Amino acid sequence: MISYYPNLRELSLGAAKYVCRLSQASVKERGIFTLVLSGGKTPQLLYNLLAELPFREIIPWEKTHLFWGDERFVPSDHPDSNFATAFDAFISRIPIPPGNIHRVTVEKSTAEDAALAYERIIRKFFETSGKAKFQNPTEGKPPPSFDLVLLGVGRDGHTASLFPGDNALEERKRWVMHVQTEDIAPAVPRITLTFPVINQSRCVVFLVSGVGKRKVIRTILDDPVNAAALYPAARVQPAGPLIWYIDKESLQRRKR
Ligand code: 6PG
Repeated sequence: MISYYPNLRELSLGAAKYVCRLSQASVKERGIFTLVLSGGKTPQLLYNLLAELPFREIIPWEKTHLFWGDERFVPSDHPDSNFATAFDAFISRIPIPPGNIHRVTVEKSTAEDAALAYERIIRKFFETSGKAKFQNPTEGKPPPSFDLVLLGVGRDGHTASLFPGDNALEERKRWVMHVQTEDIAPAVPRITLTFPVINQSRCVVFLVSGVGKRKVIRTILDDPVNAAALYPAARVQPAGPLIWYIDKESLQRRKR
């Protein structure tokens, strides 16, 4: 499903309403709502809205669990940290129990250790939370099914921290990997969910705004098969609905 919005403000409001609806449906159906947050600039207005009325009061925060689709290997209070950005934008202003916030533990000596630790956090959560059941528990430990994964798209077609040509794109077993890229600022190691986890999601919403993305988005939407060879974002094929929220205005703006 593709929704075009006239600008980022309208897109963010539409996305906030969807997050709210899905949170209530998930809690009603399974008693829990597992939400994976995206990094980057596009979701920040959405995050601000989640801390404002009515969303602050109607989203069941006490049953909502927050995770991150990717994180930069920087301290959790660093301005480049996706956790810090989300914390300042809304987490610090909503009534969510601290135990429901599952950030990437960057206090490790290496990005690989942080990736391994985050996978352990996710595994432990889904094994012990009870309500967030594995979709096919009989098949051993398949990747978990997050209720909603928010993703962005870069000008090179990356999503989360899955970058074109990176070997993390081919990972089939691990749920979390570390990647090193110089192609995008900040040029720091990153920790990212892998496709096996992302594609097990009950729902994925891409939030797209920003100049220089028009060719990537058009190719992904018009020719998804060929786009998959070029752009990691085209390889997101979740178990449940795949929804695009697109800021039309920014797609039409040319890169300066
Ligand atoms: C990150 C993000 C990344 C982001 C895209 C789009 O950690 O940087 O997870 O995947 O979503 O780069 O970023 P913008 O929304 O800033 O264009």
